[in-house]
Amino acid sequence: MNSLVKQRSTGIAWRFPLIEMQGVPLRNYIVQKWSNISAFCPDPSDMLIATYPKAGTTWTQEIVDLLLHNGDEEACKRASTSDRFPFLEIQYPPPIPSGLDLLKNMKPPRVIKTHLPIQLVPKGFWENKCKVIYVARNAKDNLVSYYHFDRMNQAQPQPGPWEEYIQKFMRGKVAWGSWYDHVKDYWKEREKRNILYLFFEDLKKDPRREVERIMRYMDLSVTDDVIDKIVQLTSFKNMRDNPMANYTFIPKIMFDHSISPFMRRGEVGDWTNHFTPAQSQMFDEDYARQMADVDIPFCTSI
Ligand code: PPS
Repeated sequence: MNSLVKQRSTGIAWRFPLIEMQGVPLRNYIVQKWSNISAFCPDPSDMLIATYPKAGTTWTQEIVDLLLHNGDEEACKRASTSDRFPFLEIQYPPPIPSGLDLLKNMKPPRVIKTHLPIQLVPKGFWENKCKVIYVARNAKDNLVSYYHFDRMNQAQPQPGPWEEYIQKFMRGKVAWGSWYDHVKDYWKEREKRNILYLFFEDLKKDPRREVERIMRYMDLSVTDDVIDKIVQLTSFKNMRDNPMANYTFIPKIMFDHSISPFMRRGEVGDWTNHFTPAQSQMFDEDYARQMADVDIPFCTSI
């Protein structure tokens, strides 16, 4: 009933259903436009920030933008995160512009966001040797963040009860699919495809070192003072209070921050406030099975 009322008042039916695209559950609007998305051809100067949802995308985007603007805070407030970094595959019902619409109106070099697993990234990114930054976050914190996001984001499927959500996440039955496959497939390709593979936990533990790594990867050079400034401007508190980065620019009908703010906790280890010991053990056992073929140095506490 509630969703019907919403649908009538906005003309849009929210909580878009997922449809499998080559085995990966994606929002129906993305699947409908798939041929246009996969045909997108970037310029070699374009850069891609790829993540599983809720792994530290917005944080990395802000660091990248500040590096490109030599730490100029005002320049990076020229527009919202969504308008500065086109979200490659995002599609909404008209009249909301898609990621491809934004890309059409923006000249290269662009910094593009995607949550697509590596096998679905348009091949032009690899053919044109675009720079690609991948950010990964430990599974338990990633899951917790995604659960709260699915509660507040009316474009995502209903998360359902916490206990069931853990199961859906473990089986990859959430939007953009399996966390396990996502982090593993980029990891396996990182050297061959020159992907800078970062961890949320490293950004938290030693942001200065990680900002420098990103700078070097982008072939940029900024002074130590600028690095310090970027670290400060991209602290959780500063980004939470930055209206161009904290997603309060999205209408409440879609992002309801009163349910859970986009900038929620920004911590490593918040999972301990959500998982019971039994859930944690069950998750860890399944994790060991799903991650047996790789050794990715994730940490769940710092
Ligand atoms: S999205 O929707 O996929 O683009 O979300 P994403 O930006 O990848 O992830 C959102 C989570 O990142 C946290 N965040 C930060 N943590 C620490 N420092 C900074 N600067 C920062 N910016 C964003 C944000 O709070 C979400 O995590 P949780 O755990 O839910 O707080």
